[in-house]
Amino acid sequence: MDDATGGRKRILSGMRPTGRLHLGNLVGALANWRALQDDYDCFFMIADYHALMSEYESPGAIAANAREVLIDFVSCGLDPARSVLFRQSDVLQHAELHLVLSCYTPIGWLERCPTYKEQIKELKNRDIHNYAFLGYPVLQAADIVLYKANLVPVGEDQLPHLELAREVVRRFNSLTGAHALIEPQAKLTSSPRLLGTDRRKMSKSYRNQIDIAADAETIRKKVGSMITDPKRIRRDDVGHPDVCNVCQYYKTFAADEADEVAEKCRTAAWGCTDCKARLADLLIEHLREPRDRRAELEADPDRLQAILADGAERAGAVARETLREVKALTGLGGW
Ligand code: TRP
Ligand code: SF4
Repeated sequence: MDDATGGRKRILSGMRPTGRLHLGNLVGALANWRALQDDYDCFFMIADYHALMSEYESPGAIAANAREVLIDFVSCGLDPARSVLFRQSDVLQHAELHLVLSCYTPIGWLERCPTYKEQIKELKNRDIHNYAFLGYPVLQAADIVLYKANLVPVGEDQLPHLELAREVVRRFNSLTGAHALIEPQAKLTSSPRLLGTDRRKMSKSYRNQIDIAADAETIRKKVGSMITDPKRIRRDDVGHPDVCNVCQYYKTFAADEADEVAEKCRTAAWGCTDCKARLADLLIEHLREPRDRRAELEADPDRLQAILADGAERAGAVARETLREVKALTGLGGW
């Protein structure tokens, strides 16, 4: 194993900068990433090239969103002193390795990728029939193998991309005969998915999300609008906490109160308004620290730039080394 990392395994993961992150991102990704920093050598990336592939018609938003994501990363406890926090487009080798790996990726693998087929069918408000979007998983493979990451913490939706990355690596390794690249493994998160306020998948496009940066008033409003047990209509109706999203939020953010909440619901000892008011208070408290840290970072733009510059430097050092190897193996860059 790599001595420079003190024998620790390496992790890489990334997020596309499409706006401020929400509670679903916090529970599904950031909270896990934060914990992984104790045991792994971590690289966390803002995947702005991946954003451009689908958002190229409104490119102005990408830079601002990348800044928001960096602020959310740091304010949720990703530690720039321990982990490498960087922006994909700051490290040229992503584009370079993407091109090399694309030579080893049959088009059929990409056309058959379930995420691609689904997005082509479902994304009606954007035109993603471009060359780059088909190759989305090739760039993702490059992101990972550039750092020789062993493990990639991702949600289940990303498994087809990880499988494709592994196949590309196997093909590259066998055709170059040097086994220089590491086959990455997905590291699935154990936390159950947190639904949006309307019980659909939490997503900005449904406007059912609660942002990590939300202020107290917004949190109260969003929690107030949450869909509860549909059978509990009047205050004295008994409720069914097992089917109520609000109760699921208690389990996620205040597990020690969840039993009592369920009991008070089943016996109609309190109403949904009381139940939601308490949840809103808990969330406001839970998000206090990220909110305070965000305020500090927003007041100090130089600090954000310094984090990015340091991340680009540290990521670049590893990436340059991998590219040197890859180019030698593929006959590029001299003899
Ligand atoms: N495709 C990932 C997503 O949408 C983002 C991403 C880009 C990524 N590159 C990555 C995730 C590399 C893990 C590893 O969530
Ligand atoms: Fe849901 Fe709470 Fe209302 Fe029960 S009391 S239905 S758990 S919001």
